[in-house]
Amino acid sequence: MSTGNKKMKGIILSGGTATRLFPLTATTSKQLLPVYNKQMIFYPLNTLIKAGIKDILIIVTPEHSGQYLNLLGSTFKKHGINIYFEVQKIPRGLADAFILGEGFIGKDCATMILGDNIFEDDFSDAIKNFQSGGHVFAKKVSDPERFGVVKFDEAGRAVQIVEKPQEWISDYAVTGLYIYDNRVIEAAKGTQPSERGEIEITSLHNYYLEKGELKVSTFNGEWLDAGTFDTLLEAGKIVKEKKIYENFDPMIDKAIEEFNADLKALAKKRLL
Ligand code: DAU
Repeated sequence: MSTGNKKMKGIILSGGTATRLFPLTATTSKQLLPVYNKQMIFYPLNTLIKAGIKDILIIVTPEHSGQYLNLLGSTFKKHGINIYFEVQKIPRGLADAFILGEGFIGKDCATMILGDNIFEDDFSDAIKNFQSGGHVFAKKVSDPERFGVVKFDEAGRAVQIVEKPQEWISDYAVTGLYIYDNRVIEAAKGTQPSERGEIEITSLHNYYLEKGELKVSTFNGEWLDAGTFDTLLEAGKIVKEKKIYENFDPMIDKAIEEFNADLKALAKKRLL
């Protein structure tokens, strides 16, 4: 798909250590844990594929790279979706995705989604119609101090974005879906680590906000992040109750079916 004469590339950031989910994440990556009937990563993957993105980079930890390759390495190729992998050795921060992804992005635009973020809504229009600058998505939450937070003025324009503000500025969290033009690579490279030692995605929002080129939209559907035992369980329940699993692009369901059939055939051979 293209935005003007530029293509849109997709990135799923799927690394991190997920210590809050030990011992579950001692044996696999958080984003490969099940949410109802699918591995968590299929939900953000669906957000990108539904929007027509054909080239997707998945950024993973060194220790889980083999599991990602097994699950996604060839599952979508015959459906015209190219999946690439990049290893992030150290979780340097969300903005690192655009440094690691520089060669993959090339001269194009990029939509990045966090591998543990599940959205009920379809963001295809925003992704397909994106022209330039940045576009992020905010949702009202009861615990804004846990997130990147955006303050709006009376006209509904974003005026300030702060990562995990210690003093209350707003109830709107910036969620884990980001659309940027190609300048994001330079912006990421120029970002200094924060007090917690990470190159923050919030610095990238501010790069565009300062230029008056950041659009912040709000949305109504569910936004689930599955970072604790309770929220992981809750995410599965909501996906089932709200039938979010029915929102999948039919191609993804087909590809998973084929993947399962291959596994079954392999299991049968081993039994013989
Ligand atoms: O969930 C939305 C929030 O995500 C935003 O509101 C914040 O602005 C943004 O900084 C981020 O906040 P978190 O503190 O929740 O990010 P966390 O460190 O949990 O990382 C989010 C996901 O990205 C997580 O699944 C692990 C992965 N990750 C994280 C880092 C720092 C990586 O793959 N590599 C990394 O270097």
